[in-house]
Amino acid sequence: MKEVKQGKVYLVGAGPGDVELITVKGYNVLRKADVINIDLLKGLTAETIFVGKKKKIHYYTQEEINDLLVKFAKSGKTVVRLKGGDPLIFGRGAEEITALVKNGIDFEIVPGLTSGTSVASGIGLPLTHRDLSSSIAIITGHRKNDGEDSRSLPKADTLVFLMGLSALDKIVEDLLVEGFDKDSKVAVISKGSLKDERYVSGRLDEIVNLVEKSKMASPAIVIYGKVVNWYDDMLKSRCSEKEKALLNNFASNLF
Ligand SMILES: C[S@@+](CC[C@H](N)C(=O)[O-])C[C@H]1O[C@@H](n2cnc3c(N)ncnc32)[C@H](O)[C@@H]1O
Repeated sequence: MKEVKQGKVYLVGAGPGDVELITVKGYNVLRKADVINIDLLKGLTAETIFVGKKKKIHYYTQEEINDLLVKFAKSGKTVVRLKGGDPLIFGRGAEEITALVKNGIDFEIVPGLTSGTSVASGIGLPLTHRDLSSSIAIITGHRKNDGEDSRSLPKADTLVFLMGLSALDKIVEDLLVEGFDKDSKVAVISKGSLKDERYVSGRLDEIVNLVEKSKMASPAIVIYGKVVNWYDDMLKSRCSEKEKALLNNFASNLF
């Protein structure tokens, strides 16, 4: 029997949402794929499989996804596993790499813009600032919800929480317990880079209410740090009318 030449798996970062934010390399890999896990981009001839989740329904378990990647690659296909943001930031990419290595499958990682930094950059909110922030920590918002991780928060000037919208009250509680000032500021950005992007900011002791009232929807990042004060001051009061118009022009639906 003729032996099938084994294919290859690409773990590709799609960026935060706006399809134009995928890298050129990611886009080129998509164009040559035989199998893609979602139909993010139109006009591709590849077979597409939806393996994501909707409203907490997982269509495939992580083990089933791993098995699919291995199965298609073994049948000679070029497989693209398209993942939000960067494929190796909170995306269970390590588990997929493990499955591929164990099965001797050739693979390549195509990095993407992680939402952990790009969502803030996209609205002009700098996570670092020469005077205000010389370090950033990107943290999972679910770290204590699963009951396993009760480490204290990392020491950094700016804290960015992913997967934190539904756990916002818990995040705020953690910050207050660890002695963060209730008057310090937090921002939440939902659906970053997409047309229905939203921004809400407020004091630590009011942010949960503000976000609830705003009816923001996932995905969202939560940012804690003085850069939030800088951003709000800059955007809302320090700019000239001309600068405001410029800023509002690109961040028109933020406020
Ligand atoms: C499972 S993590 C995957 C992160 C992804 N690998 C990355 O590098 O951005 C999903 C979380 O990323 C964040 N996220 C992804 N896309 C986003 C967007 N467009 N706007 C705001 N947050 C986003 C949210 O915190 C969401 O809960």
